[in-house]
Amino acid sequence: MPPAEPWLGSFQELVAETGAAGEEFCSRLLRWLDLSPADPPRFFARLAELAAGERLAAGLVPTTFYWLLAGEQVVGYASLRHKLTAKLRLEGGHIGYLVRPRARGRGYGKRLLELLLPAARAAGIERALLTCNISNVASARVIQANGGVLQDEVYAPSSGRFVQRYWIDLRAA
Ligand SMILES: CC(C)(COP(=O)(O)OP(=O)(O)OC[C@H]1O[C@@H](n2cnc3c(N)ncnc32)[C@H](O)[C@@H]1OP(=O)(O)O)[C@@H](O)C(=O)NCCC(=O)NCCS
Repeated sequence: MPPAEPWLGSFQELVAETGAAGEEFCSRLLRWLDLSPADPPRFFARLAELAAGERLAAGLVPTTFYWLLAGEQVVGYASLRHKLTAKLRLEGGHIGYLVRPRARGRGYGKRLLELLLPAARAAGIERALLTCNISNVASARVIQANGGVLQDEVYAPSSGRFVQRYWIDLRAA
């Protein structure tokens, strides 16, 4: 579902939980996109700007956020990037996602990507590029379970990591 005010507190807990687990992925993304959950009006206004492709810093593309709820808890989020840049083609792709550490291993990652694919199709994406660090077995399984076909494994100089690149064909979706 699109991010909405009643669940912002739960999203903040998710951010705190990933930080406490020593994961930088989430806080780095929020900083990079200038998204501050501590300031609700600005947070939601910024989400709208990102989705509309307004006030984008160099290297950013229009991006829509989704939250995955289990009951009243935000258990994960995904970001849908409407276009690819040369950097995203190498690492990042169209869709990024995260499940809060304590909710992992229960199928939420697979479900999150499954729900994102029709949204990607609706945004005009015919083939979605998904990338993951070669050591990220859980993410690779999430992608494979959703029809990802491995293209290759490449070195991404900006992160210094080797990444797998998968494509998911959405034309029949
Ligand atoms: C990747 C991530 C989203 C997976 O979420 P999840 O809710 O645990 O995923 P699921 O429960 O749907 O599990 C998917 C598969 O990964 C496997 N898996 C889960 N955790 C695993 C682990 N630590 N090691 C190996 N496999 C694992 C599951 O067994 C399942 O495999 P299966 O299809 O063979 O049964 C989650 O680990 C995460 O948020 N990681 C940090 C952020 C991240 O890496 N995002 C992806 C960037 S590319």
